[in-house]
Amino acid sequence: MASLLESLDQLGQAALTEISAAGSSKQVEDLRVSFLGKKGKLSEVLRGLKDVSPSDRPQVGAKANVWKDQIESALKSRKSDLENRELTTSIARDVIDTTLPARKSNLGTLHPVTQAIREIVRTLGRLGFDVTTGPEIETEFLCFDAINIPADHPARDMQDTFFVGPGTVLRTHTSPVQMRKMLSQEWPVRVICPGTVYRCDNDATHSPMFHQIEALWVDKNVKMSDLRGVLDFFAKDIFGPKTKIRLRPSYFPFVEPGAEVDVSCFKCAANDPHCSICKGSGWLEILGAGMVHPHLFKVAGYDPEQVSGFAFGLGIERIAMLLFQIPDMRLLFQNDVRFLRQFV
Ligand code: DAH
Repeated sequence: MASLLESLDQLGQAALTEISAAGSSKQVEDLRVSFLGKKGKLSEVLRGLKDVSPSDRPQVGAKANVWKDQIESALKSRKSDLENRELTTSIARDVIDTTLPARKSNLGTLHPVTQAIREIVRTLGRLGFDVTTGPEIETEFLCFDAINIPADHPARDMQDTFFVGPGTVLRTHTSPVQMRKMLSQEWPVRVICPGTVYRCDNDATHSPMFHQIEALWVDKNVKMSDLRGVLDFFAKDIFGPKTKIRLRPSYFPFVEPGAEVDVSCFKCAANDPHCSICKGSGWLEILGAGMVHPHLFKVAGYDPEQVSGFAFGLGIERIAMLLFQIPDMRLLFQNDVRFLRQFV
């Protein structure tokens, strides 16, 4: 019996030593299995109990239980020590540095030309103009003849117009949409037509592809003063409440009388002879306008004795260049994000 008690003590001591040396909770668990598990060392010793005389059994059994309790509590405390240590290390290792700046997502912005179109559409929309559009590949008839541009007009020169095929062109302006609208419905008409137009032209202030907005108001009794009123509202809304407009007589085949329209310089208000925008003149030319020519009403099937109307057309890039003070039109179409990012 003495030897059994001795081997129990040895086993117990060995278990305690090994447990205190365990380096991880996994090792502690392995030790539990190896000492206390069904096939563990302590159970093995206890299996020898059957060979001990019945009178000695209680003493051996008691010792075995004492060791079992000690081993269990050593396992438990070592396990919890190690788990705490592991937790502390993992917290330190997996720390999230909330002070790091977040990664910026690359949000796109609207192109300055789109921004200008939307601004102008919004302004004229407040006056009751609906938006309508037409095709970029247009018939020569609607682009020119129907709106009173005769065959010998310079605008039909090969220099200005891209011809697509016999009788078809890339529209050189949005004015044909006026005629499409009038052909498609009876008067009254109050529309604006934004869109892309094309001309054989390329320098700092001209691009072969650019954008225009056309406006057309046809009804009974539409007068030149209505045109002036609309343009005045438009100019103040786009360029600022102090803006003035002036109309200079000019010639466009589709209107009579026709005018070129200037706005007062929103940058220097005519006070700076070296102003980078108006060059000291105090005025900026922004669009062409006039009273719809009776020829157009005849083509449309409207009676020029019954109706009258005004039209105007403007280049979006020119407005965007003025508003954003962009020196070269080509910048607008190079798609350089360093440029485009400035217009958020
Ligand atoms: N279509 C002209 C152009 O391309 C602009 C224009 C001038 C439109 C006078 C009009 C107008 O409606 O009345 O330059």
